[in-house]
Amino acid sequence: MSSHLFSNIGQLVTNDPALGGGILGVLDDAALLVENGRVAWVGPNSAAPAADLRTDLAGAAVIPGFVDSHSHPVFAGDRADEFAARMAGQSYSAGGICSTVAATRAASDAQLEANLLRLQGEFRASGITTFEAKSGYGLTVSDEARALEVAGRHTPETTYLGAHVVSPDFAGRADDYVALVAGEMLEAAAPHSKWIDVFCDRGAFDVDQARHILQAGIAAGLQPRIHANQLENIGAIQLAVELDCASADHCTHLAQADIDALAGSSTVATLLPGAEFSTRSPYPDARRLIDAGVTLAIATDCNPGSSYTTSMPFCIAVAVRDMNFTPAEALWAATAGGAKALRRSDIGHLAVGARADFNILSAPSFIHLAYRPGVNLIKQTIVGGLA
Ligand code: NIG
Ligand code: FE
Repeated sequence: MSSHLFSNIGQLVTNDPALGGGILGVLDDAALLVENGRVAWVGPNSAAPAADLRTDLAGAAVIPGFVDSHSHPVFAGDRADEFAARMAGQSYSAGGICSTVAATRAASDAQLEANLLRLQGEFRASGITTFEAKSGYGLTVSDEARALEVAGRHTPETTYLGAHVVSPDFAGRADDYVALVAGEMLEAAAPHSKWIDVFCDRGAFDVDQARHILQAGIAAGLQPRIHANQLENIGAIQLAVELDCASADHCTHLAQADIDALAGSSTVATLLPGAEFSTRSPYPDARRLIDAGVTLAIATDCNPGSSYTTSMPFCIAVAVRDMNFTPAEALWAATAGGAKALRRSDIGHLAVGARADFNILSAPSFIHLAYRPGVNLIKQTIVGGLA
């Protein structure tokens, strides 16, 4: 198998403090060797080993591939008018999901897959090398199963979100819908899903309904994650910790007890800057969480309602500007934090043995990702050692 040396890296972010400085494990004037799709060697450029192939990066910065641990890319249509109405003063509510449900049900499998591929291309162009994909715009047994089947062709990180909102077909019969989600729909979704998620919030599912659905998913072999406290604090964070969810996502409204519970748990708090940005909501304060010892991820939440972005650098810039992350903390959260939120140890860092997923920046330092908002600094993305 051929080896490929990337030499003359001005700044290499490894996310391994044993390899370099700070939480990002930064090495200046570095080189990185790839073999069989994995990182085979990392160290000073001057000590770089020989290799079959050699690419001189001329002082560019290299960072791990972004890990987007929260996205909803299986849908049809858009909600541009809803966004415009919000920017004119209307507020966001969970009910908007139903208009995407109607468009998604009406779309063919080929249309859903084409839209997913378009978004996957955008993810990749923004430096995302792993993405999670949720269902949740079908809300029937067959529409949820097909969404997950389509997603599973493009990512191993598939999430069953039949509990996105109560299906419009079950208006006034929420308990019957919960029984379907935890029963027949789960059975159809489980073969295509790694994760189960519930939107536990005002206008969606309460804590008891969410517990019931997540426990059914766990019994079926899925791992839990949860949409928590986006619109209101109805106790979803406590449930996340109770069930050892890999991640509690949004965390827009937090009590001190929620922060304490997260800090004492292995549940990652995933913040979604695009959602607060696009719904004009108050940003959660990452500083409060980091200082308490909570592990944080940043994800795009790409969906047509609350956060129609596929750009992780945009999310990093907003996180730094408005959520009180430092640039280093934000980059860590968008890489290593995302990997932890997916309970993966093979991605999100560039130590020896990691998957060779990384971004070459057209910038000398990772700080430029937040310092130069809206500018595409992803020069090249390498996935599994390949461009
Ligand atoms: O994560 N909060 C729930 N689900 C999505 C929004 C879905 C939509 O509005 O279509 C989110 O923000
Ligand atoms: Fe979401």
